[in-house]
Amino acid sequence: MRRRRSLALCTAALACAAVVCAAAAQTTPKKPGAQSARGRAAAASAAAASAAAAAAATAADYAQRFATVCVACHGPGGRSEQTGVPVLAGQHSFYVITQLFLFREGRRDNPAMTAVAKTMTDADLRGFSDYIGTLPPAAAASQPTAADPQRMANGRALAQLHKCVFCHGADFAGGQQVPRIAGQREEYLRDTLHGFRTGKRPGYTQAMIGALAIVPPEDLDTLAHYAAHFPAAAASAPAATAGK
Ligand code: HEC
Ligand code: HEC
Repeated sequence: MRRRRSLALCTAALACAAVVCAAAAQTTPKKPGAQSARGRAAAASAAAASAAAAAAATAADYAQRFATVCVACHGPGGRSEQTGVPVLAGQHSFYVITQLFLFREGRRDNPAMTAVAKTMTDADLRGFSDYIGTLPPAAAASQPTAADPQRMANGRALAQLHKCVFCHGADFAGGQQVPRIAGQREEYLRDTLHGFRTGKRPGYTQAMIGALAIVPPEDLDTLAHYAAHFPAAAASAPAATAGK
């Protein structure tokens, strides 16, 4: 309950910063006084023009900040090679912003990421997630273990049985608030799935808590193995995921 409400507030605050306030600035001149209405309209369009210029500047800015701050752990282009650090390449901006928000608010707890997110402004949440949304998915992440044919077959059946594909897609590429899990690092996926199941990792929604409720814990490792080694190159042509 509480979680839902403050998340809605976050979304509202971000939306306000980006859209609602700009719209309000342009639609307020309803009151009498044509001159001041015209003045306000001119001011609003000047503000819109400078906002557009600022947006272009900040996009480059966040690319730069990503390179100096985030790459140290998440790797160049977000293709992590570090144990326990997730791949960000190919992740969706909507999903990313929800997770940065959870870290910033101390709900999703990880010493490294919480420290990074704690100082972020709402504009930073938006800027970093928009930038990450432009990173093309990695062709093949380096995985700690090689794919095991038997576990891959079992994982495929489990992903159907437990409807993982229903939300994450047949190619595990996700979309919007549902993360890409194809090619994610195996040990990260394993810890994450166990985390959802034990309540250690909170969700932005109840989707994963519900999805894992009837999955036996021993099957989580198999699902992690399957998703990590998912044949991304064969299943999703670059064109299909470009721009996500
Ligand atoms: C000191 C290492 C470190 C740095 C620097 C770092 N991260 Fe992270 N990041 C992590 C770890 C570790 C996790 C996984 C945390 C967990 O398991 O909950 C993570 C998780 C994330 C996630 C969640 C991914 C997912 O699939 O759920 C996002 C998004 C993210 N980081 C973005 C960033 C951004 C943006 C920056 C730079 C501003 C950054 N990180 C800098 C270590 C780091
Ligand atoms: C009802 C839709 C739904 C179903 C079914 C579902 N998921 Fe998810 N999954 C989500 C959403 C939404 C998230 C984002 C988590 C959040 O809410 O913060 C997520 C997150 C995840 C993550 C975290 C990824 C990361 O980068 O941290 C993993 C791993 C995952 N799901 C695997 C699975 C597996 C395996 C199954 C099947 C057992 C499954 N999901 C079923 C919707 C779903």
